[in-house]
Amino acid sequence: MKTRQIRERVQWLGAIDWNRRLFDSLIPLPDGTSYNAYLVSGSQKTALLDSVDPSMEHVLMAQLEKVQDVHYVVSHHAEQDHSGAIPAVLRRYPRAQLVCSPKAKDLLIDHLQVAADRIRTVEDGETISLGDKTLKFIHTPWVHWPETMATYLPEDRILFPCDFFGSHLATSDLYAADDPYVIEAAKRYYAEIMMPFRKPIQNNLKKVQDLAIDLIAPSHGPIHDKPARILDAYRDWVSDKVANLVVIPYISMHGSTEAMVNHLVGCLAERGIRVQKFDLSVTDLGKLAMALVDAATIVIGTPTVHAGPHPVVFSVTSLANALRPKLKHAAIVGSYGWGTRAVEQISGLIPNLKVEVLGAVLCKGYPKADDFAALDALTDKIREKHAGLA
Ligand code: FEO
Repeated sequence: MKTRQIRERVQWLGAIDWNRRLFDSLIPLPDGTSYNAYLVSGSQKTALLDSVDPSMEHVLMAQLEKVQDVHYVVSHHAEQDHSGAIPAVLRRYPRAQLVCSPKAKDLLIDHLQVAADRIRTVEDGETISLGDKTLKFIHTPWVHWPETMATYLPEDRILFPCDFFGSHLATSDLYAADDPYVIEAAKRYYAEIMMPFRKPIQNNLKKVQDLAIDLIAPSHGPIHDKPARILDAYRDWVSDKVANLVVIPYISMHGSTEAMVNHLVGCLAERGIRVQKFDLSVTDLGKLAMALVDAATIVIGTPTVHAGPHPVVFSVTSLANALRPKLKHAAIVGSYGWGTRAVEQISGLIPNLKVEVLGAVLCKGYPKADDFAALDALTDKIREKHAGLA
């Protein structure tokens, strides 16, 4: 892919990874991704903002072939999908300085073996002049590593926030425009990667929202040319507001837990409560994470395996705990053959979830009338707790 001009002497570079289907050997990428870098040429100096994943280094180096001089390479984030090609760029431009936040310095040395004397750290609010263009650095820690920062280009009113506001989306569209799917992809990205850092992101949003911004140019996915759309979406996702939604991740081995979950789904729907049910044997984890962005309640459904929850439930519950969604309530439903410690074990897996536990309904064998009645009572409790939620 050739470079693309987004403003006078501001270019998009980078690579579109159409075929990648997994990130960090964990996160599904149904739509691929992109690694966006940007070249800003002032009247005196030139800066490259970020690089690309090591697997796409050759693409970036080909794009830079006719660029005679790069004076600064800005690393907003030390993770390899943006900094992986930085060593090659520094070799190509031996006089270039690598610019990063103070916290990024050690990370770049440790992860990429960059020589310390190539690195210049910048403080929050510091600027570097390129002549008639200025790079202003804004520290935005914990989106989603401790060292992350953004660059603001005031002359062109562009914010380059790296992962922040990004989306894993391979597309030939340079701009998001009004495409609703970009916001959905950005929500998936937020859910999978940013959600554990909701509080720091609230602070970072405050730092950038008053800037005069025409474009938000992230390092994954298309450029936001209507910045209010993604800023409003982020404000909603990181807010303390929860929705009238129950998320039910579950698995069933012989149909008992499935019968419990199906009964619960019907009861909740009858009472005007939205439900998203996820059979973990077939679930896209990204979809589950997206549902957890807004949900008020989680109900975990599991059969008993070797006295505890099904191993898949074990794994997904640990993941939900790590994502720290803003859930308010939790419950457990499921089944067992002759005995179970599933409730105690699941409870021990969710210390990060600051939830009120509304109860557990576990049946021996296939659910009977008493078990269904207990699910009805659980539904009434959830309805009480959801009163007033939209
Ligand atoms: Fe896109 Fe955190 O790297």
